[in-house]
Amino acid sequence: MALRYQVVFGDAQNMSELPDESVHLVVTSPPYFNAPFDYPDLFPSYEAYLRMMEKVARELFRVLASGRVACIVCDDVLVNGERYPIVADLTRLFIDAGFRYRDRIVWLKPEGYIRISRRSGIVLQHPYPLYFYPDNVQESVLIFQKGRFDYASVPRDVREASRLDINEYQGSKWYLNVWQITNVLPLQGRLEEGIAAFPEELARRLILLFSYVGETVLDPFLGSGTTMKVARQLKRSCVGYEIDLELLPVIREKVGMEMASLLDDATFEVIIRDDARHFRFWLSERIKQRRSAARNAKRKAKES
Ligand SMILES: C[S@@+](CC[C@H](N)C(=O)[O-])C[C@H]1O[C@@H](n2cnc3c(N)ncnc32)[C@H](O)[C@@H]1O
Repeated sequence: MALRYQVVFGDAQNMSELPDESVHLVVTSPPYFNAPFDYPDLFPSYEAYLRMMEKVARELFRVLASGRVACIVCDDVLVNGERYPIVADLTRLFIDAGFRYRDRIVWLKPEGYIRISRRSGIVLQHPYPLYFYPDNVQESVLIFQKGRFDYASVPRDVREASRLDINEYQGSKWYLNVWQITNVLPLQGRLEEGIAAFPEELARRLILLFSYVGETVLDPFLGSGTTMKVARQLKRSCVGYEIDLELLPVIREKVGMEMASLLDDATFEVIIRDDARHFRFWLSERIKQRRSAARNAKRKAKES
């Protein structure tokens, strides 16, 4: 089976490389607005962020085949003490772009997740009403559909080749709308460092549940390349858009582009458009500054 992997470095608001109705599934997580430890000050305003997402949603509706599904991993974000309702706003925006709102799955992370901010600790210092802010251990997987799927359109051999493992489906409780999956741990020096990558298991479940072998999966915010790596393992083709050209070496390594013909009949193509940007280094410097400011503030609070 010939599989194709294409990475386009450029802004996903324009996916002109893709013809209408040419992809069969979207799996992605958009940037988390200006999340302080992922994307500090990336967008000039929340309105600008939503305008960008609105254009991406319209492009996704255009390129997705009829009846197919877009899975958007996202969460509300706290910036400078203000909560931005990203889950609600993206839901509305995708519906306005023409999608049906099919489902929402909660991705539950382990309680020991070391990146969560311990807001609940305020109650330990002030055990009185109105000091409570919960620690967040979940994200949403929003599932949108373009019309309805024609199950009879799938050839019998493709259907059989894509059969799900019912023991795993039941044993790992895929059937619930809460999925317990360990997040990618933010260990220093790991390939995904500073990229807010989602776990391979999340992409794996979505690709197995919503696409057939040999079809094409699209990730408009490719990041480290998780969706593409897993699509390859599951014998699906994949197209990814990523604006930050600094991620090219990470994607190359994660997807295993150098291992091309050794593993399977795969072809790889990298397109670098004029609208590709460079901001990973700039972001990581800003995150370092913020972390050290947060540490200093904590130390001062302890000393006083
Ligand atoms: C949350 S990360 C995706 C992480 C990915 N799911 C993974 O597992 O590695 C979002 C990515 O979107 C990219 N991005 C932000 N704005 C973009 C745009 N307009 N077009 C394409 N990519 C964009 C960021 O550079 C970032 O790598």
